[in-house]
Amino acid sequence: MCGIVGILGRQPVASSIVEALRRLEYRGYDSAGLATLEDGRLTRVRASGKLHNLEEKLAAVRLTGEIGIGHTRWATHGRPTEINAHPHASDKLAVVHNGIIENFRELREELTAKGHVFATQTDSEAVAHLVTEAMRQGAGPAAAVAAALPRLRGAFALVFLFNAEPDLLIGARRGSPLAVGWGAAGVYLGSDALALAPFAHTIAYLEEGDQVIATRAHVVFHDAAGREVERRRQPLLAGSFLVDKGNFRHFMAKEIHEQPEVVGRTLAHYLDLAAGTVRLPFELSFDPKTLSRVTIAACGTAYYAGLTARYWLERLARLAVDIDVASEFRYREAPLPENGLTIVVSQSGETADTLASLRYAKQHGQHILGIVNVETSTIARESDTLALTLAGPEIGVASTKAFTCQLAVFACLAIALGRARGVLSEADEKRLVGELVTTPGLMADALNHEARLEPVAHDIARASSVLYVGRGVAYPLALEGALKLKELSYIHAEGYAAGELKHGPIALIDDNMPVIVLAPPDATLEKTISNLQEVAARGGHIIFIGSARAREAAAAELAGFVELPDIASAFAVIVYAVPVQLLAYHAAVFMGKDVDQPRNLAKSVTVE
Ligand code: G6P
Repeated sequence: MCGIVGILGRQPVASSIVEALRRLEYRGYDSAGLATLEDGRLTRVRASGKLHNLEEKLAAVRLTGEIGIGHTRWATHGRPTEINAHPHASDKLAVVHNGIIENFRELREELTAKGHVFATQTDSEAVAHLVTEAMRQGAGPAAAVAAALPRLRGAFALVFLFNAEPDLLIGARRGSPLAVGWGAAGVYLGSDALALAPFAHTIAYLEEGDQVIATRAHVVFHDAAGREVERRRQPLLAGSFLVDKGNFRHFMAKEIHEQPEVVGRTLAHYLDLAAGTVRLPFELSFDPKTLSRVTIAACGTAYYAGLTARYWLERLARLAVDIDVASEFRYREAPLPENGLTIVVSQSGETADTLASLRYAKQHGQHILGIVNVETSTIARESDTLALTLAGPEIGVASTKAFTCQLAVFACLAIALGRARGVLSEADEKRLVGELVTTPGLMADALNHEARLEPVAHDIARASSVLYVGRGVAYPLALEGALKLKELSYIHAEGYAAGELKHGPIALIDDNMPVIVLAPPDATLEKTISNLQEVAARGGHIIFIGSARAREAAAAELAGFVELPDIASAFAVIVYAVPVQLLAYHAAVFMGKDVDQPRNLAKSVTVE
């Protein structure tokens, strides 16, 4: 899941390539590189590490090429060295690649036997040589790419630049996203609209299997069968893609603080606030009354949103729910019942495993509902019903506002399905919606007390291992809390259902290991407090997140207390997500970690 860009400009393009790459860094930042055509010669500049390393190198060279391609890498094959950085090149072309070429070993052997010399350990280099080979056999650039593509197995997006072609870029997509943008200063190719926003006024997305042949004057699309096709060109509103930290030190901080607004916006989209009812902004492709089962598949934080939703869908809509991480679900060969609904959840809408789960479910006759943040993404387009989260662009690699918006959508959906299935009354709906609409305000309150939680975060930062525990909907939040801490601070952390502590993890407890107890005020609170007592009895280092009343009931010695208001809401867990995120954020900042771009991670994971 790298970021790729290509520009056919009318002035030197290197600085615009870098600008686009900056917007794509969320897709990976192990290395970066670009290639331009300088007087008919391909010139490459590449650097390991983050984009600023490439920028430093570029400061020392003057590139005048008016056509070029660029790449920011999340390493899959081969270490993140400069040699392995894209673009990869031959004597005829350079290429940037996002995704994985599964059969690269086979191709490498075949091409090596034909005299091609490989310089890198990457899978991507095989593509450069494969197309070069076709050109050596006499094919022109477009024919060579068209001949090479069917030989590639895997998921990818590619952009090619050719030595002898100052007015041609060729792009292809299979599995990974690619878009074309038109602007006053040229034609652009890029992994997403975000990359193209500063340059393009209109944009078109390649469909699965498409190839695009772009010159400054003409852009021609071919579908997987090689037929010339039209792809819808739509306006690109640059303002909506602003990538800006505002007054915050990090994107993540900004995104955590945006939550009252974006959760509010998302709720407003799904609720009739005047009537106090749910009003879904789409038609359902199924009859909720006859629905046999709900299956949920997602990855990472989106999966934890799904795990939370299981409680709501079971309780409020009386639906049977099966849920799994998408990387397992797609290979389980799970039998899916007739009239079943599969819900896929994804911020980016491009996560390879989630997309594959969607396709599996579709093949098995399921209705597909996608809860997605990026409206133009593949998952959004392939879902029968699209339920948008209105979180806006999320740049911090660790998901925050997308998560709480996913929860907001799920909450509305559970109420709507409960009503449609006749298991919730009109009065239940009014009460639940009333509770839900208090969420943004309560999140804002929680954010106002940020300073109080910093010392607790610093305490956590000193630990080498941390446990998060909760029951009911606080259990998935415990998992999410542990994930957030791991990914941001690199401190080992685990989330547990509080009731499971005694079946193993309690053996770990000593006064060096913080145990973070998530205790929202629901029917499980008393039980959670009993579990807390078990930890206290063993001298555990307890950090309690709950109301003052719950703390009093806990009556235990605490190492830390994060106070939240007494929230009378079935959806209190959405508010509890805020301190959980802030604890991980402040622990990582205190430790001097790169919270927006943690090591080894990427925002959009388009490999399996
Ligand atoms: C990556 C990100 C996570 C995200 C997961 C799923 O691992 O770092 O923050 O939760 O992918 O991404 P998606 O875009 O499908 O929600």
